Amino acid sequence: HKLAVFASGTGSNFDAIAEQIEAGRLDGKIGLLVCDQPGAKVIDKATVRNIPVFAFQPKEFPAKAAFEQAILKELQEKHIDWIILAGYMRLVGPTLLAPFEGRIINIHPSLLPAFPGKDAIGQAIEAGVKVTGVTIHFVDEGMDTGAIIEQEAIRVKEEEDRASLQKRVQAIEHNLFPKTIQRLLMAVNREEIKS
Ligand code: GRF
Repeated sequence: HKLAVFASGTGSNFDAIAEQIEAGRLDGKIGLLVCDQPGAKVIDKATVRNIPVFAFQPKEFPAKAAFEQAILKELQEKHIDWIILAGYMRLVGPTLLAPFEGRIINIHPSLLPAFPGKDAIGQAIEAGVKVTGVTIHFVDEGMDTGAIIEQEAIRVKEEEDRASLQKRVQAIEHNLFPKTIQRLLMAVNREEIKS
C-alpha cells in the first residue's frame, strides 16, 4: 500500500509512521508528504528519509478545489491509496474526499467527540477532565467528525499542565497511529474493507 501523509507542522507522527515502516512493522510505503506550510519541520523529516514532498502555499491558489486538484494529480501519479492526516491543519474538501473517502484517516489528541478542533489538549486542561486521550477516525466532510476507528485513554495527572499532557498524549499517538494503520492495511488485504 502506498501512503500519502499530510502534515502542517512538526511531523512527529510522520516520523513515527516512517520509523515503523523502516523497522518492517508497517506493510506500507510513504510515497509522498503533502504539506501546506513551506518551511514546516516535517518537510526536513521527509527529505532526510528521501520521501518525496509536495509543499504548497494555499494562498497561491484561487480556491481549495484548485490546490486539492494539484494534490490529487500528485497522488494519482504516485499511485497513492491511503491518505494519512497527521497534524494537517485544514479541512479536506470534496475534490479529495470524493476519490478517497473511506481511505482518509486522521489522528486527534482527544477522545472525540470531546474537544474537537484546535488545541484539544488545552481544551481538556481548561475543562479539568480526569481522563482524555487519542482518537483515530475516518475523515468525512466535517471537522473531526468521521467514524471512529480506535481510541486510547490516559488519566490526567493532578496539577498537570498543557505541556506535560501534550507530551504524554503524543507518546500515545506515536504508538497507536502506526499500529492502527497496520491493522487497517491488513483488513484491506483480507478484503474486510472494500477497496
Ligand atoms: C498531533 O497531536 C495530532 O493529533 C494533531 O496535530 C498534532 C501533530 O503533531 N492533529 P505532529 O506534527 O505529528 O508532531
